[in-house]
Amino acid sequence: MNRKYFDYLEQTAPEAAAILESRSFRSLLHYPRHIYTNTYDHSVRVAVCMAWLAARSGADPNSAVKVGLLHDLCFVDYTRKNDHPGLYCFYHPEEAAANAMREFGLTRKEARAIRAHMFPLSVHLPSSKLAFRLLLADKAVALYEVLLGVHFLRNRVSHFAARRIIHTR
Ligand SMILES: [Fe+2]
Ligand SMILES: [Fe+2]
Repeated sequence: MNRKYFDYLEQTAPEAAAILESRSFRSLLHYPRHIYTNTYDHSVRVAVCMAWLAARSGADPNSAVKVGLLHDLCFVDYTRKNDHPGLYCFYHPEEAAANAMREFGLTRKEARAIRAHMFPLSVHLPSSKLAFRLLLADKAVALYEVLLGVHFLRNRVSHFAARRIIHTR
């Protein structure tokens, strides 16, 4: 991922540097997300989006970037068979909020925003502007990643098909 995104986050929110450098956040590099990306890159994208939205609405940039970075801090690989009870889409906001609270500390508003980021799949309603922005940023980034993932898979398939045609001629 481009260095300019990290610089932007660290300039916007001084707390971002400690999160980005932490071992637990860096471990998200090993958890796949949305076909071709990983949870680390996804969270950085959501945080950049949150920083941008906060700058345009006069909201607290620290809180915005923090929930963006930590909203998926759940250490389960949902693409592999695992013995975690329940469905990932339902339990990961709760676990992310608990993990983020334990390691980095969250305000009640930040914890609620993280718990509600999968609405309407979560039982928690987005109850603040911060929560609505997180919901919006997460959905927009997820859509972008899925579309890029489909594009990536289509290129791989056409590349593979082209090689097969060349080899069978
Ligand atoms: Fe999520
Ligand atoms: Fe997410």
